[in-house]
Amino acid sequence: MVATDTARVLVASNRGPVSYAVREDGSLEAKRGGGGLVSGLSAIGPDADAVWVCAALGEGDREAVRRATDGRLDPADSGGQRVRMLDIEPEVFAAAYNGIANSTLWFVHHLLFQTPLEPVFDEAFRAQWAAYEAYNAAFADALAEEAAEGAAVLVQDYHLALVPAMLRARRPDLRIGHFSHTPWAPPDYYRLLPDDIAAAVLTGILGSDRAAFLTPRWADAFADCCAKVLGAAVLRDEGALTVTYAGRTTRIGVHGLGADADFLRERAHRADVDERLGALRGAVGEGRKVIVRVDRTELSKNIVRGLLAYRQLLTERPQWRERVVHVAFAYPSRGDLAVYREYTAAVRQVADDINEEFRTTGWEPLILHVRDDFARSLAAYRLADVALVNPIRDGMNLVAKEIPVVSESGVSLVLSREAGAYEELGDDSFVVNPYDIRATARALHEALLLSDGERAERTKRLAAAATALPPQQWFLDQLSALG
Ligand code: F6P
Repeated sequence: MVATDTARVLVASNRGPVSYAVREDGSLEAKRGGGGLVSGLSAIGPDADAVWVCAALGEGDREAVRRATDGRLDPADSGGQRVRMLDIEPEVFAAAYNGIANSTLWFVHHLLFQTPLEPVFDEAFRAQWAAYEAYNAAFADALAEEAAEGAAVLVQDYHLALVPAMLRARRPDLRIGHFSHTPWAPPDYYRLLPDDIAAAVLTGILGSDRAAFLTPRWADAFADCCAKVLGAAVLRDEGALTVTYAGRTTRIGVHGLGADADFLRERAHRADVDERLGALRGAVGEGRKVIVRVDRTELSKNIVRGLLAYRQLLTERPQWRERVVHVAFAYPSRGDLAVYREYTAAVRQVADDINEEFRTTGWEPLILHVRDDFARSLAAYRLADVALVNPIRDGMNLVAKEIPVVSESGVSLVLSREAGAYEELGDDSFVVNPYDIRATARALHEALLLSDGERAERTKRLAAAATALPPQQWFLDQLSALG
């Protein structure tokens, strides 16, 4: 079935641009999301003929779908954006999202397994994989219904790796792109996956006309996996990369999503941010340097080692005691998974230990907040003298790009060489191996010592590199590259 008001441009992602909660009186409260895709899609204008297909993530979303006409939400809830939300059976959704996307593919691409004991691919895993296939098929069906003849479809991320091939089988007329927001695993690690599933994920993405990544490093890793796992032909010709497999050629592209400077600068100076800035300044105390980190409490963000590095700094260089405060925001993420709950508890424990060990009257060495508050994050960005971004591995890391844009008196960036942002920001950062606590402590020390002049110069260059490809252009580039 093809919808009557089909679209010329479609975006598909697990998490959509709006989410819902059911109020006590039974009415629905809509909350609009942010991020690169939301700003990116706004570039084609409110009148553009676009539909966003996403999954219902919770009970509020499911209720909104039940009240919607043909699955289409009220555009007023998403700033005029047409959204088709899919009410996939809760058990199927949970197995696909928690089991395969977040506990398997995410772990593979971020190198997160503790390999002596995991992963274990058993019967239960196979049931989750079947759910992942069903969940991807639900997206492919909806996109096939919503797309006009020859439309452009931009499929997002590891949740939807099978969609491009499934959609091509249903609608060969469409132009299909896939974008990975994560890193891509190197072949030896990728091959932890069962052979048939390793191949299915690759051939799923190769169903697109163009598969794109955040950095050349991840694009190359994907091509390497195609060569090693599938025996596909990889051609590198004057900067253009293609993968040919089973008679089809897929172009491989790179679009390094940047920070949205206009939005950030305006948003960071509203009253709610000013108010939080005042509160943070009060908590930090007069004349102290501030080291800031802002993350989801995500295993790959390496928050525990970041805290241990701060403890090492205070231990090994006592001159910083009472002269520095670490402001660490670690917001809730993926609480359905036990390993994330345990990680969150570990973050709190190490933070408490640091304060216990070092606090003095009038100096709290570490301020940890775990409740998500975007205005407070922006206030911390403005206050930062040093930003700590030390992921084990990260597709890009937008925090590394946003802080230099917003910081008031310039920021020294301590940056993991395993973040995608390293390729663009590494030259003006204090670069660290994320596993090396002592080296990270030394980098924090050097970053704190950077002269005002040098810091201002570096910040200017960091902000320029960070905003080179704003979300709107990032999105338009992908559309035009599809032809
Ligand atoms: O990094 C990939 C990504 O999909 C991001 O776009 C996003 O920040 C994150 O993962 C979201 O994860 P979740 O939807 O599970 O909270």
